[in-house]
This record gives sequence, structure tokens and C-alpha cells, in this order.
Amino acid sequence: MQHTIGNLCGKGYAEGMSVSAGTIRILALGDCVGKPGRFALRDGIPYLREHAGVDFVVANVENAAHGFGVNPKLAQQLLDYGIDVMTSGDHIRDRREIDSFLIANERLLKPINYIDMPGPGVCVVDGPGGVRIGIANIIGRTFMDDDCGSPLVWADKAFEMMGDARIKLFDLHGEATSEKVALGWHLDGRASAAWGTHTHVQTADETIRPGGMGYVTDLGFCGGHLSVLGRIKENVIARQLGSSEARLEIADGWPQLDGCIFDVDVVTGKCVHVERVQHKLYADVENEVTAEQTTPEE
Ligand SMILES: [Fe+2]
Ligand SMILES: [Fe+2]
Repeated sequence: MQHTIGNLCGKGYAEGMSVSAGTIRILALGDCVGKPGRFALRDGIPYLREHAGVDFVVANVENAAHGFGVNPKLAQQLLDYGIDVMTSGDHIRDRREIDSFLIANERLLKPINYIDMPGPGVCVVDGPGGVRIGIANIIGRTFMDDDCGSPLVWADKAFEMMGDARIKLFDLHGEATSEKVALGWHLDGRASAAWGTHTHVQTADETIRPGGMGYVTDLGFCGGHLSVLGRIKENVIARQLGSSEARLEIADGWPQLDGCIFDVDVVTGKCVHVERVQHKLYADVENEVTAEQTTPEE
């Protein structure tokens, strides 16, 4: 397997170095897009757990089933790849067969402000060493299809629902950078880390804010990066040139995991280190994605 770590080693974390005592290393991964994204998670998560000391993984899976939502079979498969908690976004509505999985499994979140859908928007689970970790999924309203209320108000509700969880994490699924930045400031001092998803383009503003919260405006996406946001680029270009026939199919080339690492102190719940990840899994996954037969739905 050919793994090339992008930014991960940029700040002194050599391969094989383990997380320092007293902190939990959390890896947050951007939207998983189709089969290339799933295969990249399958191979990349165990690798990063072993070589980068990752202890806990949160991944957004809203585009896992051929770009549109996720179904129960794939949701279970993704958990088996080593994801601790899955978040989602607007595309969770694309396949309502996922409702039964949402009801039965607290480790898949829908946006807390999708009140018409079943399932949790917040969960609290046991992390490494029994540390309680709360995760919330909130959808933005600016430039989104529907208005689900103020994400800041929903964030306050989510924060209350996490109770005494030591570590508190937020996936802010939104289109507008301004909305995500503002929500990030709203949470600083109370949350351990907050990150944006949905745009599929990683931003370079990772930081630890004055209140001790790790933050990045967007994680990027997991999938084929020789593409437009994970879709075949020629088809997207054709559509933008006016064709109504070009379909938004999944692109295979350049499979890559985009995300961010947050090291969180288990006593204070504060973030002590933040680092963007661009983990490339080129040749092997690419060939396998092309060779494996799956249904058009996957
Ligand atoms: Fe997405
Ligand atoms: Fe989205």
C-alpha cells in the first residue's frame, strides 16, 4: 500500500511517534465521497492509528453512497473500518432507508437541527481510557436549501446535551465560511474542538483559539481528488457549460483523506495541538476502485 502523508509531519510528528501521555489524539475526517472515499478510509484509518498515534476518529459520511447519503450496509461497513462516530449533513436525507440505522445506532449522527428526521444529533461515548467524549452535528442555514434555525442556538442546546463529557467536539456542516467562523467563536472556551464540513475544500486556518478550542473552517473531503469535489471533472465542466445530460458520477483518481488532528488534554478538555491532514493513497486504492464491481448505488 502506498501511503504518502501530506501535512501530517509538518510540525514534528514523525511516523511511529505515539500520542503524548495525558492527551487524546482525535482525527476528524471530511465528507466521504463514494467508493474511493470509503476505500481510502478503510486503508487510511488503520494506518494513521498505527503511524500517527490517532486514538479516536470522527468522520463525516454524508456522501458515502455514490455521493448521495449513506445506507445501513455502508454505515456499518464504515464503522467497521475504525470510525468511532460518524457525522453527516444535508445529504443524509438522500436515502431515507438510513432512518432505521439512525434510530438503532447512536454512532451515526444527523444534524441536530433536522428535527423532521429520527436519530441523534448529539452523542456521548466512551473514548480511550474511558474518557467521555461528546460529539455534535449541526447544519448551517446560510446558502443552504432550507432554514433549520440558528446554528448558534442549536449549538447551545447540543452543548447542554453533552452534560459532563470531558471532551466536546462539533461538526459544523455549512456552506458559508462566515457562519462557521462565527459559530467557532461562539463555542470557544466551552468546546474542545470544532470543525467545518460540506464544502469539500480544506481551509488553511487551523488554530487553537484563545479559549483553548481547536478549530478549522473546513476539513476537505475523503475521496478522489482528481475531480471537482469528488465528482468526475469533465461531467461537472459539461454541466457548467450548459449540458443537462452529464451526470455527477464519482471520480476515482487521486484518493486522499482530508482532515485535521486535534490533541486534547484529558484533564482540562482543552486542545493543545492542531494539525491538518492530507493523506494520499494513490496507486493501489485507485486500481482497486476501478477493478471492484459494486452496484450503481454504491
Ligand atoms: Fe458533502
Ligand atoms: Fe453537505
